[in-house]
Amino acid sequence: MVRPAAGAAGVASNPKRSDPAADLHPPPGERSVAAEPVIRTEDLVRVYTMGEVEVRALDGVSLVVGPGEFVAVMGASGSGKSTFMNIIGCLDRPTSGSYSLDGVDVSGLDRDARAEIRNGKIGFVFQSFNLLARTTALENVELPLIYASNGHVAADRAARAMRCLADVGLSGREHHLPSQLSGGQQQRVAIARALINDPKLMLADEPTGNLDTKTSEEVMAVFQKLNDQGKTVVLITHEPDIAEYARRIVVFRDGRVVEDRPSEQRRAASAERPTA
Ligand SMILES: Nc1ncnc2c1ncn2[C@@H]1O[C@H](COP(=O)(O)OP(=O)(O)OP(=O)(O)O)[C@@H](O)[C@H]1O
Ligand SMILES: [Mg+2]
Repeated sequence: MVRPAAGAAGVASNPKRSDPAADLHPPPGERSVAAEPVIRTEDLVRVYTMGEVEVRALDGVSLVVGPGEFVAVMGASGSGKSTFMNIIGCLDRPTSGSYSLDGVDVSGLDRDARAEIRNGKIGFVFQSFNLLARTTALENVELPLIYASNGHVAADRAARAMRCLADVGLSGREHHLPSQLSGGQQQRVAIARALINDPKLMLADEPTGNLDTKTSEEVMAVFQKLNDQGKTVVLITHEPDIAEYARRIVVFRDGRVVEDRPSEQRRAASAERPTA
């Protein structure tokens, strides 16, 4: 029924499922028959008004991202990347245009309704890991379940958090505080926290912005592994090297998409997969 737009270069590029770890999570195609786009925006416009001045941060963005895609969003500072991310993350609403998340038009929803959708469908990862300092890795990962208050008992929460930490290569680090973990490990805790509700979509704004090259590779290995398991990932980065870990690269300029292509030499970080 819904067809990906011409720009959806990576839609058909679901990975071969040879990785035994892939059995942890079924591929998206086995969950639902119709491959509804995860993201579908049409002519998205976001105007910020500051006194007399209007900033057109997004100026007509139409983009389709299918299940299982891994998209890197690039572009100069001020080109509208975070504005776009805030809207697809249901943190903000467009001034005009439409946005459907997983087949549901969310562009008109109020703050509470957006929060509910966000908690159920989206996992966020930020540049500054945003972990609670006096709280163990395990408890940091459990937090979204505590806030969700949808009846998870403590033992079940802990078991799920342990599994997410294992997924990001941090088994054995469950009881460490953030200060007892390296930067890359802290970011992997943040990724595990973003995974805890099994979100449809992982959104990351400059997730390697505070990390050195080697640690960035570790973190990108985790995103690649999650994507190989079927997770849809959209990630903002300034660094062309980091973008090459994705399957598709979308470039913003002045609030518009000016380039949309498959990554040229996709980097495989799996060889450097972290071992906690
Ligand atoms: N809350 C806001 N109020 C007013 N203007 C804003 C606001 N947020 C962003 N802008 C403006 O919108 C434009 C796009 O900003 P945005 O943060 O999306 O850029 P970006 O591509 O994420 O940049 P960076 O790479 O520096 O993070 C910029 O001109 C910015 O100044
Ligand atoms: Mg930004």
